[in-house]
Amino acid sequence: MNEPTRSPATKLTAPGYIRHQKAIDWVGGIAALTKPAAVVWCDGSEAEYDRLCDEMVRSGTLKRLDPKLRPNSFLAWSDPTDVARMEDRTFICSRSKDDAGPTNNWVEPGEMRATLARLFDGCMRGRTLYVVPFSMGPIGSHIAHVGIELTDSPYVVASMRIMTRMGERVWDVLGKDSYFVPCVHSLGAPLADGRKDVPWPCNREHKYIVHFPETKEIWSFGSGYGGNALLGKKCLSLRIASVMAKEQGWLAEHMLILGVTPPGGRKVYVTGAFPSACGKTNFAMLVPPPAFEGWQVTTVGEDIAWIKPHEDGRFYAINPEAGIFGVAPGTSLKTNPNCMAAIRENTIFTNVALTPEGDVWWEGMTDTPPARLTDWQGAEWTPGCGRKAAHPNSRFTAPARQCPSIDPEWENPEGVPIEAIAFGGRRSDTVPLVVESFSWAAGVYLGATLGSETTAAATGAVGVVRRDPMAMIPFCGYNMADYFAHWLKIGASVARPPRIFCVNWFRTDENGKFIWPGYGENMRVLKWMVERCQGSAQGVKTAIGYVPSFDDLTWKGLESFGKERFERVTSIDASAWRAELKLHGSHLDAFEARMPAPLKARRTELDRSFA
Ligand code: OXD
Ligand code: MN
Repeated sequence: MNEPTRSPATKLTAPGYIRHQKAIDWVGGIAALTKPAAVVWCDGSEAEYDRLCDEMVRSGTLKRLDPKLRPNSFLAWSDPTDVARMEDRTFICSRSKDDAGPTNNWVEPGEMRATLARLFDGCMRGRTLYVVPFSMGPIGSHIAHVGIELTDSPYVVASMRIMTRMGERVWDVLGKDSYFVPCVHSLGAPLADGRKDVPWPCNREHKYIVHFPETKEIWSFGSGYGGNALLGKKCLSLRIASVMAKEQGWLAEHMLILGVTPPGGRKVYVTGAFPSACGKTNFAMLVPPPAFEGWQVTTVGEDIAWIKPHEDGRFYAINPEAGIFGVAPGTSLKTNPNCMAAIRENTIFTNVALTPEGDVWWEGMTDTPPARLTDWQGAEWTPGCGRKAAHPNSRFTAPARQCPSIDPEWENPEGVPIEAIAFGGRRSDTVPLVVESFSWAAGVYLGATLGSETTAAATGAVGVVRRDPMAMIPFCGYNMADYFAHWLKIGASVARPPRIFCVNWFRTDENGKFIWPGYGENMRVLKWMVERCQGSAQGVKTAIGYVPSFDDLTWKGLESFGKERFERVTSIDASAWRAELKLHGSHLDAFEARMPAPLKARRTELDRSFA
């Protein structure tokens, strides 16, 4: 391999408020490798955000939406080959392959470093390298961590300002020598030899999202989209943070955090892990039905939770993010009014359709689609034309503080105490509406065997159960069997671990229709969970855990649902469970010798119960 050619010393002048020489030298090294035309140290100010957005409007990356209909908001349309996280291009490059485990793509670190050195050599030619310091978690929180992302994408800078606490104040936390996670991102589309820029530059041939867990580095090449490029989110807050959490004794989880306050009662905080396409954002922002007058549900986070044991014997969690990066299709005033209010203004939309009035639209936003639209690829669209107006993975990026249900404690640097954890997948049969595990270890088993049926939007295949332990399959930065062992250990380390539940809103009838109404009606299940935590609700013991009887749930306002349908969403069918346990077996066997004994024991116990 040729050694990458470095520019003679990229002499960098950092702003006077930056005292961290190691960071300045690191930026200089990356600039020497990537050879940008300019280096900009981002201060995170509104003026800087406005300037970048104006520049992107001029370059064609963003369209400004109508200022009355969608104030201070923009629309981006990506390259059609750059529309989602790419799991097959995501790598965990630990020194040993076994430490990455059977669920991660692994490449030997030396080999990957050689590939990256080649790809990043001169990859920012003609572009600006932006230095983006960010804090995941409230600035200065003992649960928070700092990263610095170097990127040649102004869209990434603007998005990072919404999704993280970004800018000058992060340098105060870093001081002269505090630790940061180095994150390098390039679109992989240099503007060499007068090449003309395009609205959404990316590299159609090469995409790499690479993590080095031992040195805690992130390198991302070729994509400008979502979690591939906003490196604070899935890369730092889950893949690298899961490794830090194992080393330091905490949990970095793909979980929402919500608070439930009964009328005149004590608030209970709950986290929830759901694979993609299971309504996680809707659940995080749930609006209780009218019959639940006086009940309040508040949102701390809708995607990621960092959870730490506290000396009072409980777990405390923060949402490391400052924004919402949600899937647009299916979001409406009916399904998620809080989210619709959150994206009213100051929002960047990506890959949704444009209305003639300069607003946005996506499938499911209204019952009747507009008569005419421009679709996410810039083509004319009319209802019935046979194409989707918005890409199924189109997104909005909005400040979390704009969500009307945001919890008053959402930025508390100490976090909020967690009393319950819910694991939930999309299962048309077998898994009941809700079950509470007998113990922490039995709950870890429920999480470790979590499965979800694929949707056409995600994979093209419908109804195949994909095992997604703790909804972390694409996000765990090390061997998942060690991750299960870490969960077992951390639960045993506190006096009052949360109760663990498993929920399933998606059982279907013989016509493939959902039986449970879902959305706000999930409040009935949430109420039972909260009352179990408070010791006031009954449960019936079954082989897999405690479940509510019909009379244990509140039916006011949903009297028509009835006992027969309740039975259909809660029944535990022994033959279906025998088949399910066989599938658990083949899933868990992939982890071989590293599989923790308590999970094997729980499996044996379940086998016996259904024998
Ligand atoms: C997400 C995901 O985008 O989990 O949050 O896929
Ligand atoms: Mn997610």
